[in-house]
Amino acid sequence: MNILGIDTSCDETAAAVVTDGRKILSNIVSSQVDLHQKYGGIVPELASRKHIESINYIVDEAMSEAGVSFGDVGAIAVTNRPGLIGALLVGVAAAKSLAYVHDLPLLGINHIEGHIYANYMVHDNLPFPHVCLTVSGGHTFLVEVRKGWKYELLGGTIDDAAGEAYDKVAQYLGLGFPGGRIIDRLAQKGNSTAIDFPRPMLNRNDYQFSFSGLKTAVRYFVEKAKAAGTTPAIEDIAASFQAAAVEVLVQKTVRAAKERDAKAITLTGGVAANSQLRRSMSEAATEIQAKIYYPPIQLCTDNGAMIAGVAYHKYQEGLKDGLELNASAKASIV
Ligand code: KG4
Ligand code: ZN
Repeated sequence: MNILGIDTSCDETAAAVVTDGRKILSNIVSSQVDLHQKYGGIVPELASRKHIESINYIVDEAMSEAGVSFGDVGAIAVTNRPGLIGALLVGVAAAKSLAYVHDLPLLGINHIEGHIYANYMVHDNLPFPHVCLTVSGGHTFLVEVRKGWKYELLGGTIDDAAGEAYDKVAQYLGLGFPGGRIIDRLAQKGNSTAIDFPRPMLNRNDYQFSFSGLKTAVRYFVEKAKAAGTTPAIEDIAASFQAAAVEVLVQKTVRAAKERDAKAITLTGGVAANSQLRRSMSEAATEIQAKIYYPPIQLCTDNGAMIAGVAYHKYQEGLKDGLELNASAKASIV
């Protein structure tokens, strides 16, 4: 069964066609990075307007690259939560129109479920239960994933998302937006012990994260150095910040896997591309004899394929939404 999956939850207009939840026939993503770059972050109103301009073209492209017509499609899936409300509404409106016109079932999908599902699309023997760390510009979630796509939310961020902290730190260092990849690259040339940045909530006996204090500590460090007329190496700041962020993410995730007796850890979301996070998580996972999985980068970041993929299982469970389907900015995983 072919499902058309649509995602407009943030700053990417995405559509994909996936067969039986796994075989990706097309996966088209139009990024708005250039549009938001000069503002140093995503401007929600601009994101919505750009989605309106792009959505029809992106859906057309996904259909034509897949080589299918609507007669070959069994259902339309769309991210309807969580995300930027104006941006979500564009995808939901497009999906509803297509479902109505072509008389197809409509499914509203949780974006985080899509991210969690992404690993399953490329790893055939993914063990269950596993612990999934979703880290992106908008989300930081630690979830136990059981067979049949049942979830238990273990923790999340109480303030900034991990990627948001990367992007803000990059902004303080004058590195442009989005800054995660730039910091990752710079950090490889820096000394990660040069500056002792805080490891927020590391010693708390829960799975909550906080990145706002770490981000602010970097800002104060940069401001203090400027005021004192010193110029600490930008590579050392990047490496020291990254060491702090990664240590917290790794330790909490591995502790969760150990306590839950999970034999696998999955990483997903844009920050899952981070080289240090992958390396440190692999090393720590090996120590507890857990396996680590991450998808290719085009499935880490926002895309329609992961939405169409998880929708296949929801459809089989009987999920079907009506044309009254609405979008919601906030949503939990369970
Ligand atoms: O999943 P994504 O494309 O979009 C959201 O849903 O947010 O994630 C984008 C985030 C940005 O914050 C970006 O800076 C971060 O992922 N990112 C990275 C790396 N590549 C992208 N952060 C750290 N290291 C990277 N290599
Ligand atoms: Zn996302």
